[in-house]
Amino acid sequence: MAERKLFPSLFNLRSGGFLPPEFFALGTGRTDLTDEAFRLHVAEALKSILKSPPSPAEAASFLAHFYYQRLDYGDPEGYRRLAARLDDLETRHRTRGNRLHYLSIPPSLYETVVERLGAAGLSRGGRGGWARVIVEKPFGRDASSARVLSGKVWKVFNEDQIYRIDHYLGKETVQNILVLRFANIFFEPVWNRNYVDHVEITVAEDIGIGHRAGYYEEAGVLRDMFQNHLFQLLCITAMEAPSGFEADRVRDEKSKLLRAVRPFEADRLESVAVRGQYGRGDVAGVLQRAYLEEPGVSARSTTETFAALKVSIDNWRWEGVPFYLRSGKRLAQRLTEIVVQFKRIPHLMFHPLRAEDLSANRLVLRIQPEEGLSLTVETKRPGPALSLGTVGMDFSYEHVFGESPEAYERLFLDAMAGDQTLFTRSDWVDLSWSLLTPVLERWGDAGPPPLYASGTWGPPEADRLLAAQGHRWSNGK
Ligand code: BG6
Repeated sequence: MAERKLFPSLFNLRSGGFLPPEFFALGTGRTDLTDEAFRLHVAEALKSILKSPPSPAEAASFLAHFYYQRLDYGDPEGYRRLAARLDDLETRHRTRGNRLHYLSIPPSLYETVVERLGAAGLSRGGRGGWARVIVEKPFGRDASSARVLSGKVWKVFNEDQIYRIDHYLGKETVQNILVLRFANIFFEPVWNRNYVDHVEITVAEDIGIGHRAGYYEEAGVLRDMFQNHLFQLLCITAMEAPSGFEADRVRDEKSKLLRAVRPFEADRLESVAVRGQYGRGDVAGVLQRAYLEEPGVSARSTTETFAALKVSIDNWRWEGVPFYLRSGKRLAQRLTEIVVQFKRIPHLMFHPLRAEDLSANRLVLRIQPEEGLSLTVETKRPGPALSLGTVGMDFSYEHVFGESPEAYERLFLDAMAGDQTLFTRSDWVDLSWSLLTPVLERWGDAGPPPLYASGTWGPPEADRLLAAQGHRWSNGK
């Protein structure tokens, strides 16, 4: 995490002139490293991750801001030494004592680390500056554990100091959904049950779990992807317009939306929820092993690597419009998109064609890859005969704006600026876990999930979930 995302993002922020010259970063961990060894480690990360690695001079000037201190996470004395080191570095770099703690640690350590930070006075900044803490997901593992964790964290940090990070919210294309919806006049009038037939939200990955078996065996796809990324996409797509782009106005609307989601009934789960686990199969011509064959995975594991949910939103805007959410590993391709499928026109005047012969309009918001959007419209094919065809009006981010910055850059900057708009508030965490907990419990006792072949779009049950209402996944087409 630090190597892949944090160091490169800090580097880009600094190169872009977004970090003050006085900043410094103090890395901690159980390994015993000198500052020099840590800097080499950061340098390696920059070299391997950045598309255009820095020149030696650029790298050296950046790395001079990095320090390291060994920390045994349970040892209170270690935190006191950390506090003293911070004081010292703050003097040396003439910072104002503003401190951003980034907890890139196993979630099982959150409580201990937060408690020890508090005991060492690190929930406050130095010299009257602020202190904030960035916490990665998963925040808890179900409704009750998340509540307990929140209670513990609040003993040390106030809610306005806590930045629960969801990197999907830092993606340019995700933020663009808000701009599309609320900075254009023509989407809002049709963004409701009168014009929208159904909505699909897909976050498909072609990769497996890699070396993360320890984490993934405990998590599964609902905890890993739905409780955070997919539910955030759902909220951004379906929430009401906030009155301003400010943290609590936006987050109030998201929580309101989750409150309107119809609870999944554990005893009627089959009609709204599907799970699966990848078996062997071909991805891009290469035979991949099954989940159960992944190193570190128990041969009897019942962890799901795929899920699809049919979400109903009980409010005036969305009553009767299904939102189909799905995510999985080792699927046919990497694809994150939101498909807003509009209704058919009520009557077609172009006899003998019938309204059902036409494709209904469809808006695809492509989050990744090939970020952009596409709207299908019916047109007349040139020629004397009346012949209609569907064309796409496409916008590609990269074409127009070039490459987008890494999500973490924006999120870091916002945390430094004290803007929580793109971070998850505790009530939202609570609501999202409350919705998913009955499903997690039910699946926890349900034995092995159905298998799907790697390189496909998941188990056939996921297709049936939509077919029941005459719908089909669009699968990037
Ligand atoms: C992470 C999950 O939050 O998101 C991973 O833990 C997943 O399992 C990743 O691979 C996907 O992120 P992105 O940005 O590649 O879509």
